[in-house]
Amino acid sequence: MEPIIAGNWKMNKEPGESRALVQKLMELTGDVKDRIMILIPPFTSLASVGELVRNSRFKLGAQNMHWERSGAYTGEISGLFLKAVGCDYVVIGHSERRHVMGETDEMINKKLKTALEIGLIPILCAGEKEEEREAGKTEAVIERQIKEALKDIENEAHKIIFAYEPVWAIGTGKTATSQQAVEVHKFIRGMLKKPSTILYGGSVKPENVDTLMKEEEIQGALVGGASLKPESFARIIKFTKDS
Ligand code: 13P
Repeated sequence: MEPIIAGNWKMNKEPGESRALVQKLMELTGDVKDRIMILIPPFTSLASVGELVRNSRFKLGAQNMHWERSGAYTGEISGLFLKAVGCDYVVIGHSERRHVMGETDEMINKKLKTALEIGLIPILCAGEKEEEREAGKTEAVIERQIKEALKDIENEAHKIIFAYEPVWAIGTGKTATSQQAVEVHKFIRGMLKKPSTILYGGSVKPENVDTLMKEEEIQGALVGGASLKPESFARIIKFTKDS
């Protein structure tokens, strides 16, 4: 399978800035062939970015969704609306949603079920905090997150893209070593019955992407900060295993 490079813009880029970023990115990646490139802008930019990338090699994803299809859920967004503006992917269970917005494993499980039912490809994030790693609890945390997320849908796990995002590496400049990432990727893979795609996320940058992507266990990257600048994201997209 082609490697996946996804840019999670988080709460950055209003619609005008989003368009400018995409236009520049398209110029810089015109020659890219064997990569799946996913842009994950904030909700307010989905429609305009969706227009720009239609019929291009870029795919569109959203950062979150609600588990219900419609109803009295003020401030929430239905996965059906995401599909309507051109999303193929949706991030579920990002650590910022788990730890800053209080999202639980149960909510994540409900969101995953709905995403699969309506035909969005979920990018399910899992990752341990620094104190959990230091206490030797990394595998226990990942196991709980994945198990609870997949409750009653274990047989559909192969339709999900997994992303290992150690919380201590997100936005900190501290990247997991290839060995640390590979260990957890193998652990996640060991929990799944069928082959699945597993991405790494956490301070992926032009300077470290080549080393990370050399590992067969790492099938792509979920990029935060470095996806906000067209030059750095284009360089990440164009990673090479030959350096
Ligand atoms: P950074 O690349 O900014 O560390 O963010 C990673 C991330 O959370 C992607 O979802």
